[in-house]
Amino acid sequence: MGIIEIRDLSLTLNGVQILKNVSLDIWDGHIHALVGTNGAGKSTLASTIMGLEGYREVTGDILFRGENINTLSIDERARKGITFGWQEPARFEGVSIFDFVSAGISSGKQDDKETITKDALIQLGLQPEEYLYRSVDQTLSGGERKKIELASIIAMDPPFIMLDEPDSGIDVGTLEKMNEVIKKLKRNGTTILLITHSLAVLRQADHAFLMCDGQIIEKAAASKIIPYFEKNCIPCSHKNMPNKVGAL
Ligand SMILES: Nc1ncnc2c1ncn2[C@@H]1O[C@H](COP(=O)(O)OP(=O)(O)O)[C@@H](O)[C@H]1O
Ligand SMILES: [Mg+2]
Repeated sequence: MGIIEIRDLSLTLNGVQILKNVSLDIWDGHIHALVGTNGAGKSTLASTIMGLEGYREVTGDILFRGENINTLSIDERARKGITFGWQEPARFEGVSIFDFVSAGISSGKQDDKETITKDALIQLGLQPEEYLYRSVDQTLSGGERKKIELASIIAMDPPFIMLDEPDSGIDVGTLEKMNEVIKKLKRNGTTILLITHSLAVLRQADHAFLMCDGQIIEKAAASKIIPYFEKNCIPCSHKNMPNKVGAL
């Protein structure tokens, strides 16, 4: 059984149908990639799974471990262990990195809060003594914010993680660290959905979904989707399907 099962999911925003009868399964303990052109609907699909405000008026079903979660709030879904790393994480003036990263640590692990928080930062290459008591504000670069957000997800140790373009706005060294973190999460049994334009990130995945114009047009082993990045588009009905990698 999939940890997440999506059945015939559609979403209309401001009169425009953005998601069109999306059905897919996300398998427990596997890494999945969601790839497709800009505007295909990838972030929207992740937002509906997370249950963000404004993305809950869907038709179809979103199941988490077999239970329909369509009507659950974002907090209720987060408590079940569904997490989402934003493409451009928000900043929180006056909140320390320690408080931010440790916020989601489960009640049973409160005694180890400091160790877990430091370990999560170290995994992303952030030295705790330098970062722990800084504020999550504009003094951090976009890349640092992304690392801190991923550290907060690692500290939470959730069963399911969606990362929206984890490679955007970060340098090569950080991308390598993120890839190591993703491998480690998989070894620990975490299920991951990577939304990406990057071949390096796609290569980390076991399975991939190719999205175009609000539809899933291909589901396959990640290696089968790689030709899409090598300018050999898989044919689809969408008239604007790009045939050049540069159009991604
Ligand atoms: N709140 C909204 N209202 C209307 N259209 C939206 C809204 N959010 C996203 N869209 C549109 O939905 C489409 C898919 O967007 P998005 O999911 O961000 O694509 P991707 O993440 O694949 O680049 C785009 O055409 C975008 O303009
Ligand atoms: Mg997006």
